[in-house]
Amino acid sequence: MGSSFGRLFRVTTFGESHGEALGCVVENCPAGMSLTEADIQGDLDRRRPGQSRITTPRDEADRVKILSGTFEEKTIGAPIAMAVYNENAREKDYSDIKEIFRPSHADYTYHARYGHRAWRGGGRSSARATIGIVAAGAVAKKILREKAGVEIVGYVSQIKDLRYEADIDLKEILPLRSVIESNAVRVPDAALAERMTRLIQDTRQAGDSLGGIVECAAVGVPAGWGDPVFDRLDALIAHAMLAIPASKGVEIGSGFSSATMTGSEHNDIFEMQKGRVTTRTNYSGGIQGGISNGMPITLRVAFKPTATISREQDSVNERGENVTLKVKGRHDPCVLPRAVPIVEAMLALVLVDQFLISKTARYE
Ligand SMILES: Cc1cc2nc3c(=O)[nH]c(=O)nc-3n(C[C@H](O)[C@H](O)[C@H](O)COP(=O)(O)O)c2cc1C
Repeated sequence: MGSSFGRLFRVTTFGESHGEALGCVVENCPAGMSLTEADIQGDLDRRRPGQSRITTPRDEADRVKILSGTFEEKTIGAPIAMAVYNENAREKDYSDIKEIFRPSHADYTYHARYGHRAWRGGGRSSARATIGIVAAGAVAKKILREKAGVEIVGYVSQIKDLRYEADIDLKEILPLRSVIESNAVRVPDAALAERMTRLIQDTRQAGDSLGGIVECAAVGVPAGWGDPVFDRLDALIAHAMLAIPASKGVEIGSGFSSATMTGSEHNDIFEMQKGRVTTRTNYSGGIQGGISNGMPITLRVAFKPTATISREQDSVNERGENVTLKVKGRHDPCVLPRAVPIVEAMLALVLVDQFLISKTARYE
C-alpha cells in the first residue's frame, strides 16, 4: 500500500479510522536522543479532531504511547513504535453508506483496487492515518532543531477566496508562531481568522465544505542538502505533500507564478552577507538543482474542499445502481486548520532524511 516513506529515516504508518489503533514505526533514528511522549503530544494535539468549533466533532484525545525504541527516556537506535488508540469511533454513522461511494472520496477507488475495504470512516484513506505522520514528524523536528538548527513553521494562508496577503519576511516567521497558534484557523492574522471562522461555520451550516492553502517554511537549512536527478529535494517535497489526503497541488518558491516572469525578474541574485552566500530574493524557495541553497525552503499546498458533505448527493453503489446519499457522520467542514501540522511533519520527514543522508556524501 505504499505505507513507508524515507530512505534512512524510514517511517511506516499503520491504522485505520475505526480500527483499534493508529501510529507508526520509525527506523534509523540515531541513538542517544532524549525522547518522551511529551515531545510528540504537542503536534498531535494540533492535529487532533474536536480541537475547535471548526473541526470535526469526533472527540479523540489522541494520546500517544511510545511502545519501543527508547530506554530511560532516550532512543536506543532500535525501531521506535508509537501508537494512538481510537476511543470515539462510531461505526453506526457509516452503516447507511457502507455500499455507497461518497463522491470525490476514496470509497470507489479502494473498492476497485482491493474489493474488501474497511468502509467505517474511510478506513485507511481517513485523515486519521496521518497520526503516524505527525508522530514521526515530531521526532524528525526534534532532530532537526537540536542537531541542525532548523525550524519549520506552517500556517493557513487561504480559505476559499479569503487570502492572507502579507508577504511574511521569513526572518520574522518564528515569532509569528504564537499568533498562528492562537486562533482556530491557524492564520497569522487574528481579524482574518474571525472572518475565515465565520465562513467555515456558515458553509458547514449550509451542508457544504471549503478548501484552501497551507504555506510552510523551513528556516535554517544549510546549503547542500538533497540529491540531484530523481531524488531532487523539491521532487521529494512534492511527493511528500501530495501524499497528504485531500492535497491537490504543491508550489515551491515562486511556483506557478514563475511562468509569468522574465529571467531578470526571477533570478535570485547572489550576495555575501556576514561571510555567507545568500540570495537577494528567494523565488527558488531555497532549492536549486534539487539541492538546498541555504535560503529558507518555502512551499504552498492546495487542499480541496472536504469530500464528505451533509447535503444530499447523487452517487452509485457497489451493485452498480444509481442512488442518492445523505451522510450522517462527523466531518471537517474544512481540513485546512488540521492540515498545518501534517504539512510541517511531511516537510520534517523529508528534511531529516536529507540531513542524515548529507553525512554520507563526502569522504571527510
Ligand atoms: C486533516 C484532514 C482532515 C480530513 N477530514 C476529512 C473529513 O472529515 N471528511 C472527508 O471526507 N475527508 C476528510 N479528509 C480528506 C480525505 O481523507 C481525502 O479526501 C480522501 O482520503 C480521498 O483522498 P484524496 O482527496 O487525496 O483523493 C481530511 C484530510 C485531512 C488532511
